[in-house]
Amino acid sequence: METLLPSEIRDYLLGVDDEELFRIADKVRERYTGKKIYLRAIVEFSNVCRNDCKYCGIRRSANVRRYAMSVEEIVKCAHYAEDLGYGTVVLQSGENTLYDSKIPEIVREIKETTKLAVVLSVGEKSFEQYLEYRLAGADRYLLKHETSNSELFYRLTGRSLERRLECLQNLMVLGYEVGSGNIVGLPGQSVDDLVKDVLMFAEWDFDMLGIGPFIPCPGTPLERFPPGDVMLTLRTIALSRILTKNAHIPATTAVRTVLGEDKAHLVFRCGANVVMGNVTPEKYRRLYRIYPGKVCFFQDPESWLNEIKEQIRGAGLKPSGEKGESLKRKQKATNLEKGLYRDTREAELKGQDTRQQT
Ligand code: 5AD
Repeated sequence: METLLPSEIRDYLLGVDDEELFRIADKVRERYTGKKIYLRAIVEFSNVCRNDCKYCGIRRSANVRRYAMSVEEIVKCAHYAEDLGYGTVVLQSGENTLYDSKIPEIVREIKETTKLAVVLSVGEKSFEQYLEYRLAGADRYLLKHETSNSELFYRLTGRSLERRLECLQNLMVLGYEVGSGNIVGLPGQSVDDLVKDVLMFAEWDFDMLGIGPFIPCPGTPLERFPPGDVMLTLRTIALSRILTKNAHIPATTAVRTVLGEDKAHLVFRCGANVVMGNVTPEKYRRLYRIYPGKVCFFQDPESWLNEIKEQIRGAGLKPSGEKGESLKRKQKATNLEKGLYRDTREAELKGQDTRQQT
């Protein structure tokens, strides 16, 4: 199966044949990304946020104790991650300006003293800032578009989807490996919105995709809405795998939280090929409460890592601490070497239908 029609995506999202969907997604994962499940470390270095997204527990108006780790603390966490055997560290925070000038320093220090790939996840910034971070050595960037329904995006975040997409575009231009993603089951989100999300993942050809269910968070305006359906989330993951082929798709903390950590391995059998371990110091970790019950709240990073590795092996897969760079990059480089792009270009110039050749 090479592609799916929007109506077929819709049917699968509605649960027409979960068994078939998950089986195909598992096969596509195996063929395009192999048996490796990449382990990434995440440091949630500050919960200070200027945004007021209605779903999020660290929104500006939420009543939570705020923290902002020092440069030294953050770098120390990266060293710890490397010592634990991780090849990638994700630096995530609420969207704030406190670190605008510190990020280059942090990234440079980590790149100079470790072999880690550095992923930033610090929100919407200017082109110049993204450039500065990239020049400091940042390899990748995560910025979920949350929902492709622009009206819903505005209603929930008070911000413009257009601007968010412009940021994603800028990140691509700057040569980051770029990750986007969505939240499944947001109040007011329709199945057709999810169809659009999945099609957008394929169209933009993102290197990474974070897909998780909505989890209502006490103290937010959406606290009384029902959580996103876990099956719907797994279907979204499976469809994204089938359509994007080799994107890195994590079994997100949100989906693992809803499934229960003991069933996390199921996500690897319906398309996911990445998992993130939390290495934030415990005293801060519990304050980064985007939603309640996060699976990582209490377990120490080392024992978590051992457990998840066992689960991965139990699912017949292989945990990997390699950097795990974008498989799309690798594919593009190979295509270039084979002259595939040139052939396509030549065919275009000759006015032929290139679709048959690619
Ligand atoms: N439920 C699920 N995911 C959430 N996020 C924020 N709040 C929630 C919630 N209540 C996700 C957003 C964000 C990521 C860091 O956490 O998708 O991009």
